[in-house]
Amino acid sequence: MAITEKLKKIFMKEGKKINKCLFPAAGYGTRFLPATKAMPKEMLPILNKPLIQYGVEEALEAGITNMAIVTGRGKRAIEDHFDISYELESQIKGTDKESLLTDIRNVINRCVFTYTRQIEMKGLGHAVLTGKPLIGNEPFAVILADDLCHNEEKGILKQMVEIYEKYGVCVVAVQEVEREEVSKYGVIKGEKVDDNLYRVDFMVEKPSVEEAPSNLAVIGRYILIPEIFDILETLPPGKNGEIQLTDALLELAKQGKVLAYRFEGKRFDCGSVAGFVEATNFFFERMKS
Ligand code: G1P
Repeated sequence: MAITEKLKKIFMKEGKKINKCLFPAAGYGTRFLPATKAMPKEMLPILNKPLIQYGVEEALEAGITNMAIVTGRGKRAIEDHFDISYELESQIKGTDKESLLTDIRNVINRCVFTYTRQIEMKGLGHAVLTGKPLIGNEPFAVILADDLCHNEEKGILKQMVEIYEKYGVCVVAVQEVEREEVSKYGVIKGEKVDDNLYRVDFMVEKPSVEEAPSNLAVIGRYILIPEIFDILETLPPGKNGEIQLTDALLELAKQGKVLAYRFEGKRFDCGSVAGFVEATNFFFERMKS
Protein backbone atom coordinates (compact mmCIF):
# COMPACT_ATOMS: atom_id res chain seq x y z
CA MET A 1 0.00 0.00 0.00
CA ALA A 2 2.72 2.36 1.03
CA ILE A 3 4.61 1.55 -2.17
CA THR A 4 1.54 2.22 -4.31
CA GLU A 5 1.06 5.54 -2.61
CA LYS A 6 4.68 6.36 -3.26
CA LEU A 7 4.38 5.46 -6.95
CA LYS A 8 1.24 7.52 -7.22
CA LYS A 9 3.11 10.44 -5.79
CA ILE A 10 5.96 9.97 -8.25
CA PHE A 11 3.45 9.70 -11.09
CA MET A 12 1.72 12.86 -10.00
CA LYS A 13 5.04 14.62 -9.86
CA GLU A 14 6.26 13.28 -13.20
CA GLY A 15 2.88 13.87 -14.80
CA LYS A 16 3.18 17.50 -13.89
CA LYS A 17 6.68 18.11 -15.13
CA ILE A 18 6.99 20.43 -18.10
CA ASN A 19 9.43 18.80 -20.53
CA LYS A 20 8.72 20.62 -23.75
CA CYS A 21 8.58 24.19 -24.96
CA LEU A 22 6.80 25.14 -28.16
CA PHE A 23 8.08 28.06 -30.24
CA PRO A 24 5.61 29.34 -32.85
CA ALA A 25 8.06 30.74 -35.39
CA ALA A 26 6.32 30.71 -38.74
CA GLY A 27 5.14 34.35 -38.84
CA TYR A 28 6.31 36.72 -41.56
CA GLY A 29 7.63 39.48 -39.33
CA THR A 30 6.08 42.15 -41.54
CA ARG A 31 6.78 44.91 -39.01
CA PHE A 32 10.48 44.38 -39.65
CA LEU A 33 10.50 44.44 -43.43
CA PRO A 34 12.74 44.64 -45.36
CA ALA A 35 15.06 43.03 -42.75
CA THR A 36 12.80 39.99 -42.54
CA LYS A 37 12.28 39.53 -46.28
CA ALA A 38 14.71 36.62 -46.50
CA MET A 39 15.61 36.18 -42.83
CA PRO A 40 13.38 34.81 -40.05
CA LYS A 41 12.39 37.53 -37.56
CA GLU A 42 13.34 35.09 -34.79
CA MET A 43 16.95 35.34 -36.00
CA LEU A 44 17.17 39.12 -35.53
CA PRO A 45 19.91 39.65 -32.96
CA ILE A 46 19.87 41.60 -29.73
CA LEU A 47 23.61 42.33 -29.55
CA ASN A 48 25.16 39.15 -30.96
CA LYS A 49 22.45 36.65 -30.04
CA PRO A 50 19.31 35.88 -32.05
CA LEU A 51 15.94 36.38 -30.34
CA ILE A 52 15.05 32.71 -30.47
CA GLN A 53 18.23 31.75 -28.61
CA TYR A 54 17.21 34.02 -25.73
CA GLY A 55 13.92 32.11 -25.67
CA VAL A 56 15.60 28.69 -25.75
CA GLU A 57 17.94 29.72 -22.93
CA GLU A 58 14.96 30.90 -20.87
CA ALA A 59 13.28 27.49 -21.38
CA LEU A 60 16.49 25.69 -20.44
CA GLU A 61 16.73 27.71 -17.24
CA ALA A 62 13.17 26.56 -16.45
CA GLY A 63 14.37 22.93 -16.65
CA ILE A 64 13.03 22.28 -20.16
CA THR A 65 15.29 20.53 -22.67
CA ASN A 66 12.94 19.63 -25.52
CA MET A 67 12.39 22.55 -27.90
CA ALA A 68 9.54 22.08 -30.37
CA ILE A 69 9.73 24.68 -33.11
CA VAL A 70 6.89 25.43 -35.53
CA THR A 71 8.59 26.91 -38.57
CA GLY A 72 7.46 27.84 -42.04
CA ARG A 73 8.85 28.63 -45.46
CA GLY A 74 12.04 30.67 -45.37
CA LYS A 75 12.91 29.72 -41.80
CA ARG A 76 15.73 27.26 -42.34
CA ALA A 77 18.25 29.55 -40.67
CA ILE A 78 16.64 28.61 -37.33
CA GLU A 79 17.44 24.92 -37.84
CA ASP A 80 20.96 25.73 -38.99
CA HIS A 81 21.51 27.93 -35.95
CA PHE A 82 20.78 25.07 -33.57
CA ASP A 83 23.16 22.74 -35.40
CA ILE A 84 26.89 22.39 -35.76
CA SER A 85 28.60 24.28 -38.58
CA TYR A 86 31.62 22.08 -39.20
CA GLU A 87 33.28 24.38 -41.70
CA LEU A 88 33.02 27.40 -39.41
CA GLU A 89 34.10 25.45 -36.35
CA SER A 90 37.20 24.06 -38.02
CA GLN A 91 38.09 27.53 -39.39
CA ILE A 92 38.07 29.19 -35.97
CA LYS A 93 39.34 26.26 -33.92
CA GLY A 94 42.28 27.34 -31.79
CA THR A 95 41.73 31.08 -32.47
CA ASP A 96 40.44 33.63 -29.96
CA LYS A 97 37.09 33.60 -31.78
CA GLU A 98 36.36 30.04 -30.73
CA SER A 99 34.87 31.16 -27.41
CA LEU A 100 32.14 33.10 -29.27
CA LEU A 101 30.51 29.78 -30.07
CA THR A 102 30.65 28.43 -26.50
CA ASP A 103 27.12 29.51 -25.51
CA ILE A 104 25.37 28.18 -28.58
CA ARG A 105 27.34 24.92 -28.45
CA ASN A 106 26.25 24.54 -24.86
CA VAL A 107 22.62 25.05 -25.85
CA ILE A 108 22.92 22.50 -28.67
CA ASN A 109 24.48 19.92 -26.35
CA ARG A 110 21.80 20.26 -23.69
CA CYS A 111 18.66 20.34 -25.87
CA VAL A 112 16.73 18.20 -28.29
CA PHE A 113 15.15 20.20 -31.14
CA THR A 114 12.14 19.04 -33.10
CA TYR A 115 10.54 20.90 -35.99
CA THR A 116 7.37 20.98 -37.97
CA ARG A 117 6.16 23.38 -40.61
CA GLN A 118 3.02 25.46 -40.54
CA ILE A 119 1.85 25.48 -44.14
CA GLU A 120 -0.66 28.32 -43.85
CA MET A 121 -0.61 31.19 -41.36
CA LYS A 122 -3.98 30.99 -39.66
CA GLY A 123 -3.17 32.54 -36.30
CA LEU A 124 -1.41 31.71 -33.03
CA GLY A 125 -3.98 29.08 -32.06
CA HIS A 126 -3.41 27.34 -35.39
CA ALA A 127 0.37 27.50 -34.90
CA VAL A 128 0.04 25.87 -31.47
CA LEU A 129 -2.23 23.16 -32.91
CA THR A 130 0.32 22.56 -35.69
CA GLY A 131 2.83 21.76 -32.93
CA LYS A 132 0.63 19.01 -31.46
CA PRO A 133 2.59 16.11 -33.06
CA LEU A 134 5.76 17.47 -31.42
CA ILE A 135 4.13 17.80 -28.00
CA GLY A 136 1.77 14.85 -27.65
CA ASN A 137 -0.43 14.40 -24.62
CA GLU A 138 1.44 16.36 -21.98
CA PRO A 139 1.52 19.86 -20.50
CA PHE A 140 3.92 22.20 -22.24
CA ALA A 141 5.29 25.73 -22.31
CA VAL A 142 4.99 28.24 -25.15
CA ILE A 143 7.41 31.08 -25.84
CA LEU A 144 6.82 33.80 -28.41
CA ALA A 145 10.42 34.72 -29.13
CA ASP A 146 9.70 38.32 -30.10
CA ASP A 147 8.55 38.99 -26.53
CA LEU A 148 11.99 39.06 -24.96
CA CYS A 149 11.78 38.60 -21.20
CA HIS A 150 14.48 39.10 -18.63
CA ASN A 151 14.89 38.55 -14.93
CA GLU A 152 18.40 38.30 -13.54
CA GLU A 153 17.50 36.01 -10.60
CA LYS A 154 14.78 33.82 -12.00
CA GLY A 155 13.54 33.74 -15.58
CA ILE A 156 9.87 34.40 -16.35
CA LEU A 157 9.21 30.87 -17.63
CA LYS A 158 10.81 29.36 -14.54
CA GLN A 159 8.51 31.47 -12.36
CA MET A 160 5.54 30.17 -14.37
CA VAL A 161 6.64 26.52 -14.23
CA GLU A 162 6.73 26.80 -10.44
CA ILE A 163 3.14 28.08 -10.44
CA TYR A 164 2.08 25.26 -12.75
CA GLU A 165 3.68 22.68 -10.45
CA LYS A 166 1.61 24.04 -7.60
CA TYR A 167 -1.77 24.39 -9.34
CA GLY A 168 -1.67 22.04 -12.36
CA VAL A 169 -3.64 24.35 -14.68
CA CYS A 170 -2.78 26.70 -17.56
CA VAL A 171 -0.71 29.75 -16.69
CA VAL A 172 -0.52 32.87 -18.88
CA ALA A 173 1.93 35.70 -18.27
CA VAL A 174 0.32 39.12 -17.94
CA GLN A 175 1.57 42.66 -17.61
CA GLU A 176 -0.18 45.96 -17.00
CA VAL A 177 -0.17 48.08 -20.13
CA GLU A 178 -1.37 51.57 -20.96
CA ARG A 179 -5.11 51.54 -21.69
CA GLU A 180 -4.51 52.75 -25.27
CA GLU A 181 -2.28 49.72 -25.87
CA VAL A 182 -4.81 46.99 -25.03
CA SER A 183 -5.84 46.46 -28.65
CA LYS A 184 -2.43 44.88 -29.37
CA TYR A 185 -2.93 42.04 -26.90
CA GLY A 186 -5.08 39.34 -25.40
CA VAL A 187 -6.61 40.94 -22.30
CA ILE A 188 -7.86 39.14 -19.19
CA LYS A 189 -10.33 39.67 -16.41
CA GLY A 190 -9.72 37.71 -13.28
CA GLU A 191 -10.10 37.36 -9.58
CA LYS A 192 -7.01 37.77 -7.45
CA VAL A 193 -6.14 34.47 -5.73
CA ASP A 194 -2.63 35.19 -4.52
CA ASP A 195 0.17 37.73 -4.88
CA ASN A 196 0.40 38.52 -8.60
CA LEU A 197 -1.92 35.62 -9.42
CA TYR A 198 -5.46 35.80 -10.89
CA ARG A 199 -7.97 33.13 -11.74
CA VAL A 200 -9.09 34.13 -15.21
CA ASP A 201 -12.82 34.23 -15.82
CA PHE A 202 -12.79 36.14 -19.08
CA MET A 203 -10.29 36.94 -21.79
CA VAL A 204 -10.56 38.59 -25.18
CA GLU A 205 -8.18 38.98 -28.11
CA LYS A 206 -7.19 42.52 -29.12
CA PRO A 207 -10.21 44.39 -27.72
CA SER A 208 -10.86 48.06 -28.26
CA VAL A 209 -10.21 50.35 -25.28
CA GLU A 210 -13.97 50.34 -24.55
CA GLU A 211 -14.29 46.56 -24.76
CA ALA A 212 -11.20 45.73 -22.69
CA PRO A 213 -12.11 44.13 -19.36
CA SER A 214 -8.86 45.41 -17.73
CA ASN A 215 -5.40 46.58 -18.68
CA LEU A 216 -3.79 43.22 -17.87
CA ALA A 217 -2.35 42.09 -21.21
CA VAL A 218 -1.13 38.61 -22.10
CA ILE A 219 2.57 38.45 -22.89
CA GLY A 220 4.13 35.68 -25.00
CA ARG A 221 4.69 33.08 -22.27
CA TYR A 222 2.19 30.30 -21.59
CA ILE A 223 2.00 26.97 -19.79
CA LEU A 224 -0.74 24.93 -21.45
CA ILE A 225 -2.44 21.66 -20.66
CA PRO A 226 -3.02 19.19 -23.52
CA GLU A 227 -6.81 19.74 -23.46
CA ILE A 228 -6.05 22.96 -25.35
CA PHE A 229 -5.49 20.87 -28.51
CA ASP A 230 -9.00 19.37 -28.36
CA ILE A 231 -10.44 22.86 -28.13
CA LEU A 232 -8.25 24.27 -30.92
CA GLU A 233 -9.26 21.42 -33.23
CA THR A 234 -12.87 22.61 -33.39
CA LEU A 235 -12.43 26.30 -32.68
CA PRO A 236 -13.88 28.68 -35.30
CA PRO A 237 -11.76 31.63 -36.49
CA GLY A 238 -11.94 34.66 -34.19
CA LYS A 239 -10.39 38.14 -34.31
CA ASN A 240 -9.01 39.02 -37.77
CA GLY A 241 -10.29 35.68 -39.12
CA GLU A 242 -7.53 33.80 -37.27
CA ILE A 243 -7.69 30.81 -34.90
CA GLN A 244 -6.94 32.59 -31.63
CA LEU A 245 -5.18 30.94 -28.69
CA THR A 246 -6.99 33.45 -26.47
CA ASP A 247 -10.39 32.01 -27.54
CA ALA A 248 -9.26 28.45 -26.76
CA LEU A 249 -7.95 29.57 -23.37
CA LEU A 250 -11.29 31.23 -22.66
CA GLU A 251 -12.96 27.81 -22.92
CA LEU A 252 -10.55 26.45 -20.28
CA ALA A 253 -10.96 29.61 -18.19
CA LYS A 254 -14.71 28.94 -18.00
CA GLN A 255 -13.77 25.66 -16.29
CA GLY A 256 -11.46 27.45 -13.85
CA LYS A 257 -8.35 26.09 -15.57
CA VAL A 258 -6.47 29.30 -16.39
CA LEU A 259 -4.34 31.39 -14.08
CA ALA A 260 -2.83 34.72 -15.06
CA TYR A 261 0.52 35.55 -13.52
CA ARG A 262 1.79 39.09 -13.25
CA PHE A 263 5.42 38.18 -13.67
CA GLU A 264 8.44 39.81 -12.13
CA GLY A 265 10.92 41.11 -14.63
CA LYS A 266 11.31 43.07 -17.82
CA ARG A 267 9.68 42.42 -21.17
CA PHE A 268 10.62 43.95 -24.49
CA ASP A 269 8.31 43.86 -27.50
CA CYS A 270 10.98 42.98 -30.02
CA GLY A 271 8.35 42.63 -32.72
CA SER A 272 8.39 46.44 -32.85
CA VAL A 273 11.35 48.59 -33.82
CA ALA A 274 11.04 50.69 -30.63
CA GLY A 275 10.99 47.61 -28.35
CA PHE A 276 13.86 46.10 -30.27
CA VAL A 277 16.03 49.18 -29.82
CA GLU A 278 15.07 49.37 -26.13
CA ALA A 279 16.14 45.74 -25.65
CA THR A 280 19.39 46.35 -27.51
CA ASN A 281 20.23 49.32 -25.27
CA PHE A 282 19.28 47.42 -22.12
CA PHE A 283 21.44 44.38 -22.93
CA PHE A 284 24.31 46.57 -24.12
CA GLU A 285 24.35 48.50 -20.82
CA ARG A 286 24.15 45.22 -18.93
CA MET A 287 27.07 43.77 -20.90
CA LYS A 288 29.22 46.83 -20.18
CA SER A 289 28.56 46.76 -16.43
C1 G1P B 1 -0.22 37.24 -29.67
C2 G1P B 1 -1.49 36.80 -28.94
C3 G1P B 1 -1.93 37.86 -27.94
C4 G1P B 1 -0.80 38.19 -26.99
C5 G1P B 1 0.47 38.59 -27.79
C6 G1P B 1 1.66 38.76 -26.86
O1 G1P B 1 -0.55 38.33 -30.50
O2 G1P B 1 -2.49 36.52 -29.90
O3 G1P B 1 -3.04 37.39 -27.22
O4 G1P B 1 -1.19 39.23 -26.12
O5 G1P B 1 0.80 37.59 -28.75
O6 G1P B 1 2.76 39.26 -27.56
P1 G1P B 1 0.42 38.86 -31.70
O7 G1P B 1 1.42 39.76 -31.05
O8 G1P B 1 1.05 37.63 -32.30
O9 G1P B 1 -0.49 39.57 -32.63
